[in-house]
Amino acid sequence: MLDLFADEAPWQEPLAPGAVILRRFASQEALQTLALIDAVSHEAPFRQMATPGGHRMSVAMTSCGARGWVTDAQGYRYASRDPQSQRPWPEMPGVLLQMAQRAAGEAGYSGFTPDACLINRYEPGAKMSLHQDKDEQNLGAPIVSVSLGLPALFLFGGPTRTSPTKRCLLEHGDVVVWGGPSRLFYHGILPLKPGNHPLTGEFRYNLTFRDAG
Ligand code: SIN
Ligand code: FE2
Repeated sequence: MLDLFADEAPWQEPLAPGAVILRRFASQEALQTLALIDAVSHEAPFRQMATPGGHRMSVAMTSCGARGWVTDAQGYRYASRDPQSQRPWPEMPGVLLQMAQRAAGEAGYSGFTPDACLINRYEPGAKMSLHQDKDEQNLGAPIVSVSLGLPALFLFGGPTRTSPTKRCLLEHGDVVVWGGPSRLFYHGILPLKPGNHPLTGEFRYNLTFRDAG
């Protein structure tokens, strides 16, 4: 099938020092990426994990790569095995690794070697409250975040929870890269509006590539 959403040339939008939105950067690889997400989720199914405080997350998650991000009563952390199956996470597909490396390079971060790809699935109403990505060992490496399917409002703030936030609509194929001075900036996703995307139906998918170390 031809990807009818892949014919727009990408462009960049600065977001904050060290942070940029690469609009439509992942459009060409969207179909392949969605197929790979499907394959990963057959081995390591999407699940709604519990926060250390005991709340069930509205976002369903899985991971691929040497490490995956998990949360439970013990806290947030990276684990080399899927706690549900006790098996290693599915391998990070080479095309996804290469896409993340190209995006990082485009944003000025050469030599990015992510070992974790967290895959988020949002259904209508699902959200991610303001947080920092700080469970990774290597804070010198950026975060590369790929959005697919339904659009979502992304909040990007600053170094404290109360820093002013920018609100950006992230659409199918958009990639956000943040690192350096904004590596620990607060960010989140507002509740997903219902919709029907031709490639993902009622869902939004987000992949974040990290060097968890
Ligand atoms: C995240 O902050 O880990 C995910 C952000 C997103 O879904 O765009
Ligand atoms: Fe995050």
